[in-house]
Amino acid sequence: MGVDVLSGKVFLLITGASQGIGRQIAVTFSGLLEKGSKLLLLALDEGGLKGTADKISKHVAVDFKEVDLAVATADQLSEIIKKSINPAQFDRIVIVHNVASMGDLSKLSTDMADFDYWRKYYDLNVFSPAVLNSVVMKLFKNVECKKVVINMTSHAAVLPVKCSGYYCSGKAAREMFFKVFAGEYPEANVLNYSPGTVKTQLFDTFRDTVADEGEQKKIHEMISNDQILTTEQTVNRLVDILKNQLYKSGAHVDYYDKLPIA
Ligand SMILES: NC(=O)c1ccc[n+]([C@@H]2O[C@H](COP(=O)([O-])OP(=O)(O)OC[C@H]3O[C@@H](n4cnc5c(N)ncnc54)[C@H](OP(=O)(O)O)[C@@H]3O)[C@@H](O)[C@H]2O)c1
Repeated sequence: MGVDVLSGKVFLLITGASQGIGRQIAVTFSGLLEKGSKLLLLALDEGGLKGTADKISKHVAVDFKEVDLAVATADQLSEIIKKSINPAQFDRIVIVHNVASMGDLSKLSTDMADFDYWRKYYDLNVFSPAVLNSVVMKLFKNVECKKVVINMTSHAAVLPVKCSGYYCSGKAAREMFFKVFAGEYPEANVLNYSPGTVKTQLFDTFRDTVADEGEQKKIHEMISNDQILTTEQTVNRLVDILKNQLYKSGAHVDYYDKLPIA
């Protein structure tokens, strides 16, 4: 059975697509897309992007572009997209705001006194998805096409994690931004997907650098209990959630949630 929200000629834009969950979304979704669809993959590492592009299903087109999303301006993002596609060619745009970094996990909230560090962290993790979303909505404003927006969120957007003040607050702010967007644009299908704990570089960074001993203990217990998901597992669940459409636009849906979510 196909996935309605991925049907038609789709322009699929994924940030942070050079590895981890972003790469897996690109690979899995590409196999579900119709001929005439196109992927645009963004991240820092060109080699990683090429590695993802090589795994994309051959019946769809793919472009990739290395870009530092922490510093790219709205105009630069717009140019990258316009170089890759003509919006009029698509029935649907699917944007996956996947990019993220953990931030410094050595610090308690009382030690986070560096404005520059805060700004850089929020530039990448909060402002860049918001700006990219605005750029894409403008480019597709006068085009008859369906809009699907997936923001990769986290349980850390709703549950505090010690020594993770940058990550938790960034995830919470980013998720609320996409809830506001969902409310303003009822014609868009917006999902805040929380993927569970997944074996990626981000996970390794957390495991290896979180300073709080309680958080260290929790993560090692999860590893011992075999509770760390693969990227395939979480992306297959995402596909299931998209297929069944049992969430209200803007909802936070976790890998482990039982649906429907009102
Ligand atoms: N893994 C988990 O357990 C987990 C749990 C909850 C939520 N999530 C969320 O799931 C999403 C994907 O996470 P992941 O675990 O797959 O992370 P990951 O493997 O560390 O991948 C992060 C991606 O972001 C890109 N990136 C980082 N800084 C960038 C920058 N300045 N400009 C452009 N691209 C940049 C990386 O590109 P380069 O390779 O080019 O550096 C990479 O493609 C994130 O939103 C994360 O918060 C993950």
